[in-house]
Amino acid sequence: MQNLTPTRGAVITGWGTALPNKVVTNDDLAATLDTSDDWISERTGIRERRIGGTTSGLAVEAGALALQRAGVDPSEIDLLVLATTTPDDQVPATSSKVQHELGLTCGAMDINAACSGFVYGLVTAHGFIANGCDKVLLIGAETLSRITDWSDRSTAILFADGAGAVVLESVDGPGQLLGWNLASMGGLRHILHAEIGGHLKMEGREVFRQAVVAMCESAEAALENAGVSASDVSLVVPHQANIRIIDAAMKRLGIPRSKAAEVIHRTGNTSSASIPLTLVDAIDHGRIAAGDILLLVGFGAGMTSASAVIRWGGHRP
Ligand code: COA
Repeated sequence: MQNLTPTRGAVITGWGTALPNKVVTNDDLAATLDTSDDWISERTGIRERRIGGTTSGLAVEAGALALQRAGVDPSEIDLLVLATTTPDDQVPATSSKVQHELGLTCGAMDINAACSGFVYGLVTAHGFIANGCDKVLLIGAETLSRITDWSDRSTAILFADGAGAVVLESVDGPGQLLGWNLASMGGLRHILHAEIGGHLKMEGREVFRQAVVAMCESAEAALENAGVSASDVSLVVPHQANIRIIDAAMKRLGIPRSKAAEVIHRTGNTSSASIPLTLVDAIDHGRIAAGDILLLVGFGAGMTSASAVIRWGGHRP
């Protein structure tokens, strides 16, 4: 893989999120499952999650906010990329519904790379911008509650619903993306999967073990590709699957734990939506300043992993 030599890069100019109104606490789950708030909080970091809505509905809400924030009219968007592993329908792609409801006049496609989907989408969007698109709307949206077996305590405590979106706009010369890595270990797809029409099934301990390795290998490859070191990173925006996975990965990457952004306590694992939800939360809390180097890192079923190193630039120069 060559280092990036972009003649036409991109910057993120708008962002938005959507969460269903319904809050489900650990105590709510403990009312029907043999589990407890203490167990879930200690083992996962999750205290509550949001459940409800449709993938397209949440995507439209987050996408509209991102467009508004960027000050971009729907007619200006050249491509919609929707990362989701829980589409509304088998056919057509959920992005076509989102495109129509947002009033976009461009092409639209879904990307399914499970919980790595948003970063896969981010890299894809940059590729399209390098090839001539001016403005791309990228959304990660999920309703994992629809494929969760609510009687299985080993998975029901983890998964939830939500969406996050960003608008990317072209700039001459290199943009925000300094380096990236996309990976997949298809031989491990059996450790986390759902058949069509079925529920998520997971070998929790094995997913945990593999996730830490996959996250770190991907992050290190992206940092190398970007020509920066772990000590240059201002903030890590990791996929929110388990607080202990984040702890272990930060330790292994040699980045202080305080540099990890997190929303898992209130969102649970929202797959493709988790990284944009975490990114926007960090922006809202003033944790990101112009010039900061961010490391976005995801991993998920597949097993996929994906990382992007970004120099935050705020707005289109
Ligand atoms: N409440 C209470 N007890 C539970 C429980 C729950 N919700 N789920 C499992 N247990 C029990 C187990 O039955 C086991 O009991 P035993 O010791 O009597 O056999 C014990 O807790 C430990 O189970 P274990 O599976 O080893 O727990 P863990 O510390 O690995 O935590 C997960 C389980 C699922 C939280 C953890 O493995 C995990 O987060 N894995 C990664 C999952 C993930 O990130 N998936 C998405 C990837 S994108």
